[in-house]
Amino acid sequence: MRINEDTLLEGEKVVLVPYNADHVPRYHQWMCSPELQKLTASEPLTLEQEHDMQRSWREDDDKCTFIILDKQKWADPSIPEQECMVGDVNIFLTDPSDPSLAELEIMIAVPCYRGKGLGKEVTLFLLFLEFTSTGVHKLGIQKFEVKIGLDNKITIAMFKKFHFQELSISEVFREVTLGVTVNEALQKHVFGNMDFMLQREYGKARDIRQAPFTPLSL
Ligand SMILES: CC(C)(COP(=O)(O)OP(=O)(O)OC[C@H]1O[C@@H](n2cnc3c(N)ncnc32)[C@H](O)[C@@H]1OP(=O)(O)O)[C@@H](O)C(=O)NCCC(=O)NCCS
Repeated sequence: MRINEDTLLEGEKVVLVPYNADHVPRYHQWMCSPELQKLTASEPLTLEQEHDMQRSWREDDDKCTFIILDKQKWADPSIPEQECMVGDVNIFLTDPSDPSLAELEIMIAVPCYRGKGLGKEVTLFLLFLEFTSTGVHKLGIQKFEVKIGLDNKITIAMFKKFHFQELSISEVFREVTLGVTVNEALQKHVFGNMDFMLQREYGKARDIRQAPFTPLSL
């Protein structure tokens, strides 16, 4: 989605940046893992196919993809951005007749980063983009759905924490669909103040980060 191509979202533990060509090799490496293929119901792709996918995700109007970075690592400019990558998150508009409905997918790909609150922070980010006072792009999404493998208890537990309710179960695909409607009342009661979220221009932030260090002359 072009709407997020220059959007950087910063939280307490993570920085979300648009998925670009530089991220593809690491992403491809992750997706060679049979465990991640199973957990995310993904097919293995060649590196070339992964590049095509990245380009189509960038161009398509119905998909919004961010790469999740470790904020602490990213703050150190000597560490290349690719080495700060820990996962990704996607929003898909699934029903052309209802642009307020989106499907969410999240993956903390690097196992040592799981169970540390990153998944919750990223989910919170996307659910409440509409309600922050940071001026992030308004996508107009109010209803979120997520499809999760029936055996993926951790992910089911996480989304239930965000008040997602069971909508349907497919025994054929062995997956459950959960959904939530996000409104101001839910935001106030359940999640409180979201003002820790910041939005910046990705291009500028990346250029500043990559700029060579020039010592001040005395
Ligand atoms: C599912 C996933 C996104 C969760 O992100 P995470 O950063 O590991 O999770 P968090 O630390 O934010 O924890 C979120 C909630 O998940 C549940 N959870 C996380 N780790 C858990 C564990 N080891 N055992 C049981 N529940 C666990 C808990 O409900 C937790 O909330 P709590 O800490 O308040 O109890 C991540 O583990 C992941 O990407 N797994 C592999 C890919 C995948 O399955 N993606 C989902 C496809 S739909």
